[in-house]
Amino acid sequence: MKMHRFEEIWLIFAVVIIVGSMVITGYQAFALGMGPPSGKEVIDPQKVDETAPFDNPGVFEVGDKEYEVVMTLQAFSFDPGEIEIPAGSTVHFKMTSKDVVHGVQIVDTNVNAMVPPGHIQTITQKFDEPGEYLILCNEYCGTGHQLMSATVTVK
Ligand code: CUA
Repeated sequence: MKMHRFEEIWLIFAVVIIVGSMVITGYQAFALGMGPPSGKEVIDPQKVDETAPFDNPGVFEVGDKEYEVVMTLQAFSFDPGEIEIPAGSTVHFKMTSKDVVHGVQIVDTNVNAMVPPGHIQTITQKFDEPGEYLILCNEYCGTGHQLMSATVTVK
């Protein structure tokens, strides 16, 4: 049985695409560390209040225009609920949930992540433009879900 020439070409083309995609995603995930961040750092969700750094949530200056925000998410609030930073600041968010799965989305930025209980979610975001940025929970977490929000004020 002889394969048609075009069939051979397309078969080779398909194999090249499949192998090429695997090499690219594998390189990004393992060599560049772009794999999904969840599940790397874990925490006992029953003991968030007693576990550092979440026993003391807040905004901490860690460098020149560089801040760490230690944040807990719980039905139905973010702690801290109001964050104020100067324009041009880089913020490292460190978040965990005390109860159910919550989400964090910051309007007008690319920040959009799940915050499941038992896991520590870390996201870095730079805020160049002054203004008020709304932080929303985007995972349905109960009857008060739509009330769960916070703000980042960039001055
Ligand atoms: Cu928390 Cu929806």
